[in-house]
Amino acid sequence: MESHPHVLLVIFFFMLQSTYSQQTSFISCLQAKIGPLTNILHSPTTPSYIPTLQEYIKNSRFNKTTTPKPNYIVTPSKFAHVEAIVICANASNIQTKIRSGGHDYEGISYTSIEPNFILLDMFNIRNISINVRARLAYVQAGAQIGELYYNIWKASNKLAFPGGVCPTMGIGGHISGGGYGAMLRKYGLSVDNVVDAEMVDVKGRILDRKSMGEDLFWAIRGGGGASFGVILSYTVKLVDVPEIVTVFRVEKVLEENATDIVNRWQYVAPVIDNRLFIRLLIQPVTIKPYGKMIRASFIAMFLGNSQELLGVTNKEFPELGVNKNDVREMSWIDSVLYLANFDNKTKPEILLNRHSDTVGFLKRKSDYFQTPVPKPSLALIFKKMMELGKVGFVWNPYGGIMAQIPSSATPFPHRAGFLWKMQYAVNWKDAEMEKDYLNQMRSLYDFMTPYASYSPRGAFLNYRDIDIGVNHNGANSYDEGKVYGEKYFLGNFDRLVQIKTVVDPQNFFRNEQSIPTSPAR
Ligand SMILES: Cc1cc2nc3c(=O)[nH]c(=O)nc-3n(C[C@H](O)[C@H](O)[C@H](O)COP(=O)(O)OP(=O)(O)OC[C@H]3O[C@@H](n4cnc5c(N)ncnc54)[C@H](O)[C@@H]3O)c2cc1C
Ligand SMILES: *[C@@H]1O[C@H](CO)[C@@H](O)[C@H](O)[C@H]1NC(C)=O
Ligand SMILES: *[C@@H]1O[C@H](CO)[C@@H](O)[C@H](O)[C@H]1NC(C)=O
Ligand SMILES: *[C@@H]1O[C@H](CO)[C@@H](O)[C@H](O)[C@H]1NC(C)=O
Ligand SMILES: *[C@@H]1O[C@H](CO)[C@@H](O)[C@H](O)[C@H]1NC(C)=O
Ligand SMILES: *[C@@H]1O[C@H](CO)[C@@H](O)[C@H](O)[C@H]1NC(C)=O
Repeated sequence: MESHPHVLLVIFFFMLQSTYSQQTSFISCLQAKIGPLTNILHSPTTPSYIPTLQEYIKNSRFNKTTTPKPNYIVTPSKFAHVEAIVICANASNIQTKIRSGGHDYEGISYTSIEPNFILLDMFNIRNISINVRARLAYVQAGAQIGELYYNIWKASNKLAFPGGVCPTMGIGGHISGGGYGAMLRKYGLSVDNVVDAEMVDVKGRILDRKSMGEDLFWAIRGGGGASFGVILSYTVKLVDVPEIVTVFRVEKVLEENATDIVNRWQYVAPVIDNRLFIRLLIQPVTIKPYGKMIRASFIAMFLGNSQELLGVTNKEFPELGVNKNDVREMSWIDSVLYLANFDNKTKPEILLNRHSDTVGFLKRKSDYFQTPVPKPSLALIFKKMMELGKVGFVWNPYGGIMAQIPSSATPFPHRAGFLWKMQYAVNWKDAEMEKDYLNQMRSLYDFMTPYASYSPRGAFLNYRDIDIGVNHNGANSYDEGKVYGEKYFLGNFDRLVQIKTVVDPQNFFRNEQSIPTSPAR
């Protein structure tokens, strides 16, 4: 098909024009509402733009010159700024991506498939306050989970919060996506412990639990914040922890009967004492002088002392052979550092370092398991992992309170009947390897199909995976949304769609995997 060059030119200028007017109207609207925009608005021509963009990029795959970048970055420091940004962005009809900690595995908090978008970056909104007597913490969206842990520990050595393992995750994304960590079998997900929230809706109003109502409050506890508004804060319940907890790490290669022990783990880890969380890492590793082999690492946290722990493991999981040389007693806050792989000389103050992590290239996927993988199949899977060479697994046991909370209590649906969740993980340093490693992971994902949950095959929102569906937010938005939406939310997807349709009917808060509005009738 041939187009007349003049027609193309006209279309081109029309597009340029509309982008230009969108942007100038956004800026003048913002100026009118909040005055001078110094330190708030960063345009690509200002020196602050690139450093601000890169500061919270947590996956080097989205740090390339070719990565789509925002037309502007806005860095509010007050709630009123957020209100103004939402009103002005909506009025100019420009897509707004929201970033808190930047850990999204697919970078969708700061890149976009739409040609024009702005980045609303929450890092300046990060107050935390702890009320020991009421056993509550108030934490703003731009704070990191490690900062929350540190503040709780400073206030009391008997209280904690059941959130995730990586300390630099942002509250805004981590909690709204259903965050989990080493206490999930005892206390559930982070969202099971949220009692209030503040957010800005599409009308630019600040809402709390009471004014947003129970439907919207339900949605932002696992349905992802970015489909509904800008999360400003969560108020969370604190949970009891003993002054001494115990950790261990036991590693076995296949030659040490790891297959038998992994097989047993499937039957034991989801039903054992709910104070015990035994995470299982399965990876191809090179061990000198033997060469490449599959290693299973059992990494555990127990809410009790070592004697009690050994009583539990000797009775319920003798095959693992945990002994008193493997176990280490420590405070809960030190267990946070241990599970985050800091060495044992590291002090809790590291949690206040907002850049304590090392960032490279990565890809993740997820699966849920409702039945144990038969032992002969485990052997085949490990063989496949050896052939592929790089992709590893992280298995996280469920059970305990996870099996008691109804699957409709929050948008996060994988409760009773789900034995564990699996993460597929590959990290690398050399940009060139991307294609190869993505292919390896997809191949392993295909290989796991017979064993994983199905109809639909489940996935975890916080393990964002663009392979399971993308929404272009056009005429087929609902149909596209249903594809990934039912994987993340199972039967809760429809309720999320209904709530979305009420609170944001024009789909201002949208991204590659947001909740769509109801199909037009
Ligand atoms: C190294 C690493 C370790 C991890 N470990 C765990 C773990 O142990 N447990 C676990 O549950 N998850 C884990 N995750 C996943 C993590 O929980 C998610 O990536 C989470 O979304 C990160 O939140 P964020 O604010 O840092 O991310 P961002 O990239 O800033 O945001 C993620 C999503 O939330 C939206 N969002 C962010 N802030 C707001 C806001 N204020 N209002 C509305 N929407 C918002 C974004 O638009 C985006 O859609 C890990 C991720 C990494 C990279
Ligand atoms: C992004 O690239 C810059 C160089 O342009 C580099 O300094 C920074 O460390 C990179 N960040 C990540 C997460 O790759
Ligand atoms: C954070 O706390 C400080 C000190 O109390 C206060 O001045 C500031 O307004 C707070 N910021 C936000 C965004 O709540
Ligand atoms: C958002 O902007 C659109 C026009 O772009 C407008 O029709 C709509 O009323 C606005 N929404 C709100 C809640 O102000
Ligand atoms: C592996 O299992 C076999 C048979 O059950 C047993 O004889 C052998 O001692 C075990 N090896 C190790 C290292 O535990
Ligand atoms: C700390 O780690 C070092 C090196 O791994 C080890 O030798 C030492 O025993 C550990 N100390 C404690 C108190 O566990």
